[in-house]
Amino acid sequence: MNLLVVGGGGREHAIIKKLKENPAVETIYALPGNGGIAADAVCVPEIAATDIDAIVDFAASHAIGFAVVAPDDPLALGCVDRLHAIGIPCFGPDAKAARIEASKVFAKDLMKKYHIPTARYEVFDAPEKALNFLKTASFPIVIKADGLALGKGVLIPRSYEEAEAAVKTIMEDRAFGDSGSRVVIEEFLTGPEVSVLAFTDGTAIAPMVSSMDHKRAGDGDTGPNTGGMGTVAPNPCYTEDIAQVCMDTIFLPTLAAMRAEGCPFKGCLYFGLMLTPDGPKVIEYNCRFGDPETQVVLPLLKTDLLTVMQAVENETLGQLTVEWRHASAACVILASGGYPGHYEKGKAISLPASLPGNVTIYHAGDRLADGNLVTSGGRVLGVTATGPTLRQALADAYAAAETVDFDGKYLRHDIGRRALAALAD
Ligand code: AMP
Ligand code: GLY
Repeated sequence: MNLLVVGGGGREHAIIKKLKENPAVETIYALPGNGGIAADAVCVPEIAATDIDAIVDFAASHAIGFAVVAPDDPLALGCVDRLHAIGIPCFGPDAKAARIEASKVFAKDLMKKYHIPTARYEVFDAPEKALNFLKTASFPIVIKADGLALGKGVLIPRSYEEAEAAVKTIMEDRAFGDSGSRVVIEEFLTGPEVSVLAFTDGTAIAPMVSSMDHKRAGDGDTGPNTGGMGTVAPNPCYTEDIAQVCMDTIFLPTLAAMRAEGCPFKGCLYFGLMLTPDGPKVIEYNCRFGDPETQVVLPLLKTDLLTVMQAVENETLGQLTVEWRHASAACVILASGGYPGHYEKGKAISLPASLPGNVTIYHAGDRLADGNLVTSGGRVLGVTATGPTLRQALADAYAAAETVDFDGKYLRHDIGRRALAALAD
């Protein structure tokens, strides 16, 4: 069977490597893919992940048996709807269901209507109204651009002056583009954060191993928000008791809410959770696999990924047992110096000749130039190691990260530190 994977980051690389384990898989096409993915799939760099017409034309002419649409933009643009319309089975939500990520206002209103625990919030469509509200607010407070903003459209001002600047950045300067035409202002919550990705066919749900992202650019959770600088799985804060509470108060109610709204969610639903003193609350939903969460979660999946994805598409997930390895995984992102701000591209990447069997390098932001890998994005590589313990996985991921080089290579040195501290408690 030929497969098509839309996207070209580390997440897509992890998905492709896992799909390849199925012996029935012949060719995997990655649109656009990237330099490193080219070792595992046929990449089509000319077709951007947002060029839905070109994706559909390509799929129609390449005997695609199954498609996976991984990033948020094509999902929000209706890529799955369009592929379904030409009879291609897909993994991923349709455009209506993708609103759970594409509009923070949709997500917040859904949670309010169906009593799903989340931070209290207000929505504003004009800067004056937002500023008026902020005059009597307590700080810190959280200001979020409504639409898709590559994980960067969230600002947490600590004073009215900072809040004023934040509203200007989002709503007037449009630092996150049109996603800033409306803002959600919400209560600042505290507690450990947990990412739970879940396979769901709209009714049945199979949560994946939990994980912990590290969103800030700098060590000690300092600096600006990024797409994610590293991940560990499982997340030690997410106990079995908490998992049960989340299933009962968040996961199943969310699926029921989406069905009740006439947009059942099929695909990977990502729950960004905060374990607050008042119980687990939803910080955000994503309509897709997380990046770099996928790079630690999928290496721990025992069940064949294509089989799980087909069960989601066929709405037979409830008949399948999805199994996980009892091990840990850690991923350290190697980024271009300056990310998430300005950074240079085109730096030659040097990789070790061989890697230990428990280490995989997922390629996120590189391309081939005359047959050689050069950097082409902010997050360049994700170095993942699996191991019997989190400590071992982290040590092996960091050791392997040392063996990779490119000009301006930047990484956080404290991925997993909070998770290790939680384990010691
Ligand atoms: P989001 O893109 O919505 O996941 O937000 C990015 C990051 O901002 C989250 O991972 C949290 O660390 C932080 N954040 C978002 N919402 C809140 C909140 N209500 N309270 C505290 N921190 C938050
Ligand atoms: N790592 C966070 C995300 O994928 O949105």
